[in-house]
Amino acid sequence: MPISKTEYSRRRRNLMGLMEPHSIAIIPSAREQIRSRDTHFSFRQDSDFHYLCGFDEPDAVLVLMPGRRQAQFVIFCRDRDPKMEQWDGYRAGPEGVCERHQADDAFPIGDIDDILPGLIEGRERVYYSMGRSAEFDRHIMEWVNAIRAQEASGAVPPGEFTDLDHLVHELRLFKSAAELKLMRKAASITTAAHLRAMRACRPGLYEYQLEAELQYAFASGGARHAAYPSIVGGGENACILHYVENSAKLRDGDLVLIDAGCELEGYASDVTRTFPVNGRFSAEQRAIYDLVLQAQQAAIAEISAGKQWNQPHDASVKVITEGLVELGILKGKPAELIERGAEREFYMHKVGHWLGLDVHDVGDYRPGGAWRLLEPGMVMTVEPGIYISPHNKRVAKKWRGIGVRIEDNVAVTESGCEVITGDLPTTANDIEAVMAG
Ligand code: GLY
Ligand code: MN
Ligand code: MN
Repeated sequence: MPISKTEYSRRRRNLMGLMEPHSIAIIPSAREQIRSRDTHFSFRQDSDFHYLCGFDEPDAVLVLMPGRRQAQFVIFCRDRDPKMEQWDGYRAGPEGVCERHQADDAFPIGDIDDILPGLIEGRERVYYSMGRSAEFDRHIMEWVNAIRAQEASGAVPPGEFTDLDHLVHELRLFKSAAELKLMRKAASITTAAHLRAMRACRPGLYEYQLEAELQYAFASGGARHAAYPSIVGGGENACILHYVENSAKLRDGDLVLIDAGCELEGYASDVTRTFPVNGRFSAEQRAIYDLVLQAQQAAIAEISAGKQWNQPHDASVKVITEGLVELGILKGKPAELIERGAEREFYMHKVGHWLGLDVHDVGDYRPGGAWRLLEPGMVMTVEPGIYISPHNKRVAKKWRGIGVRIEDNVAVTESGCEVITGDLPTTANDIEAVMAG
């Protein structure tokens, strides 16, 4: 079930409730991006724009004017054009946007220079996301200058410009029941995709052939797209955090790291499993694997309402540092090593990030300079890892080239947390069992 019209309308109402009186918010859609000459990348709507109306066409601008007597929610969009539509696909057109997305009023995007200055005129404050697009920044100034040019005739230009991101992103950080439902569904499609890849894996396959298994499972599960380019890294490629070449052959005796998640109705899942290409962990691989898993469990144990954002990360650092000392990979006293961040040679990222319409979702981590407290409705990833560079001469040879990350998606609840990707096997034994089956 996609997000309902009522929920979109509630989001706009919430945003307008946070805006100052006599203000206007202006939000552009994403633009089509050229992939090669006259073909484009698959279009993906801007997440803020989508969040506020669910209208997923390019060349559109959404306008909100709280307190206005007539239309408070206005959209500029592409006009209907039978000839263009025959070549490039359907367009809602202004009428369709009013009907399907509950805009109070809608106009052709070609008329925006004539109409928008009139909507801005008399509003004291303009909210928009400054600096994201130099071109849109320039348009805003052009529209405001058009009003300034009329000041002698009594036109009143806005006096203040405020960044819109903060307000929208604060709303997006808290997921509604409907959003959580979609994210659980995305998690379950992603789980099936990882299982499919584990079962299909064997030495001699190329990394992109495992990627193909994921893509198939996403689409056949009901999610057309991946939320981000799938990472399939065999052997030492697992040590490259965002490896997306996916072009190497998988070798007997190596691990393979898959970091992949589908996107469902705009919502991302983001899951990593690391498993042996031949179905059996070696002793060294299992030692590193078990340590990462222990770190993940320690981090998840620190997720509940009222805890600070950094507590799960700190818990994972403690486990990883102590474990690496035990394995002889780090040398020294754990407390001192933690003090100087010695783990970062092997664990160089944070334990997670917010998750939602964007895979690295929006929301302040340190509002006002202090770590944020977790609250019900927030969704995050928990993804500790250990990456031992193949070139690291300080480490015994048997460890070199091992890269392991384990990533799950976790929702903060009233009573603790819910691992929404928890159906995907995690322990080394369970993974071996899946691959043997
Ligand atoms: N897939 C990128 C990440 O895990 O953050
Ligand atoms: Mn990931
Ligand atoms: Mn992630």
